[in-house]
Amino acid sequence: MAAAGAKLYKQHCQSCHGANLQGGLEVAGATSANIRWSELKKSYTATTLVRAIMQGKDETDSPLDAAMPRWHGTLTTGQVNEIIAYLKTK
Ligand code: HEC
Repeated sequence: MAAAGAKLYKQHCQSCHGANLQGGLEVAGATSANIRWSELKKSYTATTLVRAIMQGKDETDSPLDAAMPRWHGTLTTGQVNEIIAYLKTK
């Protein structure tokens, strides 16, 4: 599952969040977030993380910057769970 997620990450996320997942890149007037699990786990659960990726809502249900794409309609929940399995290895 994490291997499939790694491929999806490369394809859809790496351009903004970087090969090491640490973000910090300037994209469309915003700074991309560090999305290593070691960082995300401080505020996100598996459920709120799916919501963040699909709907662009942060851990408190507030909208993330518009520079973060809303993946609903592009990625399936299964694909998002594969990506999360990959994030959890980091
Ligand atoms: C076009 C650039 C771009 C792409 C592509 C992108 N992101 Fe983001 N992402 C961002 C930016 C910018 C933020 C910061 C938004 C903010 O701070 O409100 C962000 C925030 C996030 C967050 C919230 C982190 C936090 O600390 O609250 C998660 C999770 C995330 N991205 C996951 C992903 C995943 C998974 C993918 C691939 C499916 C992806 N992103 C693709 C730009 C991007």
